[in-house]
Amino acid sequence: MTAYKCVQLSSGFNMPMVGLGTFQITGVNRIQQVIDDAIRVGYRSIDTAEVYRNEEDIGFVLNQVLNKYNLTRGDIFLTTKLSPSSHGDPDKIINSVYTSLRALGTSYIDLYLIHWPGASRIPESASKNIELRTTTWQTLVELKNKGVIRSIGVSNYNIRHLEQLLKNCGGVRPAVNQVECHPHYRQAELIDFCKKENIHVQAYSSLGTSTNVSLIKEPRVCQIAKELDVSPARVLLKWALQQDISVIPKASQTSHIEDNFNLDFKLSDEHMTRLSDLSQKKYAWNPDNVI
Ligand SMILES: NC(=O)c1ccc[n+]([C@@H]2O[C@H](COP(=O)([O-])OP(=O)(O)OC[C@H]3O[C@@H](n4cnc5c(N)ncnc54)[C@H](OP(=O)(O)O)[C@@H]3O)[C@@H](O)[C@H]2O)c1
Repeated sequence: MTAYKCVQLSSGFNMPMVGLGTFQITGVNRIQQVIDDAIRVGYRSIDTAEVYRNEEDIGFVLNQVLNKYNLTRGDIFLTTKLSPSSHGDPDKIINSVYTSLRALGTSYIDLYLIHWPGASRIPESASKNIELRTTTWQTLVELKNKGVIRSIGVSNYNIRHLEQLLKNCGGVRPAVNQVECHPHYRQAELIDFCKKENIHVQAYSSLGTSTNVSLIKEPRVCQIAKELDVSPARVLLKWALQQDISVIPKASQTSHIEDNFNLDFKLSDEHMTRLSDLSQKKYAWNPDNVI
């Protein structure tokens, strides 16, 4: 299957273009089923976060599942993210990283993201957020130099946040910006900026989140799915992949996990144009108010 194709990040490491999102997947039995399904199907990348509170169960299950399928840690790409409550405080950041390492049962994290441009203990409008982002970045660069993180990146950064970071990144540029991105929230300007700066864009909520079906039921998406005899979810994932944007669809049902990895088809230029012309709405949290 082509879904396992990788992108080479600016850090030099390869990341699979399709990973499994795990927000709201909790409970060891559920995680056991989801991780086993995903690895069996061919996923080799898992996205979690400190705030999802599932790192420990993922780590526990993953080690068993890797043994079952004769795989090793090196076959898997693990992403996790810094909680906004630790953002800007070096001691808390170091503690967060080592807690995630222990929970995931690993000696290194493939990709560690700053989950949110703001620190939760101060208002979004506080200019102190700019300084705290630099402090966080410097601390993560030190942890990268120690080898416990392979690539560092950001999430929910807009162009302004990225411009500020690039001025103060000490030569280590963010490898990834993970942002909400789908035909209802295309982020064309941000994507162009990231491409120009060699920052890989990873889309989240590609299917419109777990709580909203208006994207997956969007008539134009459904019509294209019908024309190609694929599911609407596959159309949405392919829309991102064909722009070199990686995806991390969250799925807990086996049929969804399988469907989302079955991406061996092509959207025509005309399909891409039709999908890039929909009215825009945002489903997830909005970072634009964070100074
Ligand atoms: N960095 C951030 O701030 C941030 C924010 C949000 C999300 N994320 C990451 O991105 C991941 C994905 O985003 P998301 O959780 O918002 O949701 P999503 O991937 O947009 O959508 C998940 C929903 O789609 C359903 N689904 C999955 N595959 C399907 C298919 N083939 N056909 C029909 N329905 C399908 C799932 O159902 P079932 O579960 O029932 O299978 C679930 O209800 C998250 O899990 C997380 O890892 C990051």
